[in-house]
Amino acid sequence: MTKSLANLRSRRWFTVNDMRGFAHRQRIQQMGLRREDVLERPIIGIINTWSDLSPCHAHLRERADSVKRGVLLAGGMPFELPAMSLGEVMVKPTTMLYRNFLAMEVEELLRSLPIDGVVLLAGCDKTTPGTVMGALSAGLPMLFCPAGPMLSDRYLKRGEAARAVGAGTHTRMFWDEYQAGRIDDAEWTALESRMTRSPGTCNTMGTASTMTSIIEAMGLALPGSTAIPAMDAGHTRLATDCGERIVQMIWEDLTPARILTKGSFHNAAVAQMALGGSTNAVVHLIALARRAGVDLRLDDLDAVSRQVPVLANLYPSGDRLMEDFHYAGGMPALLNRVREHLSLGEMTVTGKTLAENIAGRDSLDDEVIRPLGNPVSASGALAVLRGNLAPEGAVMKPSAASPKFFRHRGRALVFDSPAEMVQRCADPELDCDENTVLVLRNAGPVGAPGMPEWGGLPIPKKLLALGVRDMVRISDARMSGTHYGSCILHVSPESAVGGPLALVRNGDEIMVDVEARKLELVVDEAEMTKRRAALSVPPRTHQRGYIRLYQDHVTQAHEGCDFDFLQGPAATPEPLIF
Ligand code: FES
Repeated sequence: MTKSLANLRSRRWFTVNDMRGFAHRQRIQQMGLRREDVLERPIIGIINTWSDLSPCHAHLRERADSVKRGVLLAGGMPFELPAMSLGEVMVKPTTMLYRNFLAMEVEELLRSLPIDGVVLLAGCDKTTPGTVMGALSAGLPMLFCPAGPMLSDRYLKRGEAARAVGAGTHTRMFWDEYQAGRIDDAEWTALESRMTRSPGTCNTMGTASTMTSIIEAMGLALPGSTAIPAMDAGHTRLATDCGERIVQMIWEDLTPARILTKGSFHNAAVAQMALGGSTNAVVHLIALARRAGVDLRLDDLDAVSRQVPVLANLYPSGDRLMEDFHYAGGMPALLNRVREHLSLGEMTVTGKTLAENIAGRDSLDDEVIRPLGNPVSASGALAVLRGNLAPEGAVMKPSAASPKFFRHRGRALVFDSPAEMVQRCADPELDCDENTVLVLRNAGPVGAPGMPEWGGLPIPKKLLALGVRDMVRISDARMSGTHYGSCILHVSPESAVGGPLALVRNGDEIMVDVEARKLELVVDEAEMTKRRAALSVPPRTHQRGYIRLYQDHVTQAHEGCDFDFLQGPAATPEPLIF
């Protein structure tokens, strides 16, 4: 399958000899470019999610220049297109609220402009799924260029062994130590300048690394690209390679429709489990699959998790960082370790199959990329729980949880908002013990809105002081992929649309059985019916603007939280040019 200059999409703008064609060529020359620069070359869009308030993407302006160099060397013409930048930590109430906004922006940018193919420069948690969702709906050849992880840091304290510390994971650990009085104010303040040594994405196997890694496993990024540190010279070369390759992909007419299949999504799931990846990936993968017209459900992911052990020894499931993963061989080496579970014949952006891409790529460090016989965790990176508390499912990450809670019964302590949760968890008189099950509701896609990462509910301060570091926590929220703990997340349907989480009362008994995949409220059906009858669904919190659109159209967690009108592979017609 090949494409010629004559049938490039951008020809519709530039080669027609009418008044509009004249204006398009004229405006190109207004920018100092030559007529032939757009008449004789494919036009490459570079979607750039850089901004001054997005530290994970702080280097992407320079990387865009490298992509341009590659495009020009390969005979294309690059144009950089800024898109919404979603820096995970700064954007409130949550970047998840804006993932679909970014996806719409990318899709419409690509459709409305004379673009033949696109390189996506992104990497922070929502910018990866957001840009890929938009680009796959636009249907043009696309290549994802991951922002790369930030550099590793070390925590040194006199008298203690040096330890690697990573963004996100250690922030939570140190916060718990500070709350428990084991770190003083001076050290807490000093820690602010630690853990985040350079531009780049979080260097643990949080959501950012999970998403960029599984996009590579799906065949949408160059082999080995995910783990190259953002500040490595190799990352600059990677950007140039991406620019060069996207031009070739246009001539090969290598569109996402030729790459994204049931098999490529299966490979993404295998990668997520072998990585010990973030639970957030579940929502994004299902959203991506629905846009690609692939039937992927929570139970498919659970089935993969039962078969594929966690092999990547990376925080929060392990104790190494992304830089170590890069040195050990990165994704090609990891995928080679789990090749028996993969659909190896899937096409990728290289124009070769996944099998060809990973052939001979062995792990260089068995402590970082473990052999199948010595996994980091045999308990799996994902468990999908169901029961009367989560009829459409809930998820947890057993590899980052305490095994003692895999079978558990405890009394519920319910919070209706994060503000109430924070206030009450600081109360030294709070009625709870380590067996209590903390419940947070009104934190889902519609209720919060945007399904923020509030699902790592804080351990009550009085229990922290007693040395408690984990409890069973249940919510309709998400949790940061860098965090750890026995947190049951994404309860679906959420409480704000009448899901059973809304029926829980303080003191109710809740039963969790991870092996049996069960999550039950131990309340008889007659009582549940009575409570349901008395329940009133809260009104939408926003009456105008984008958030109103979001609350009216977002789907539930088990459906990917995409907008209902954006799902499905049906193409939007090309714009009229008059
Ligand atoms: Fe951007 Fe973690 S905050 S990747």
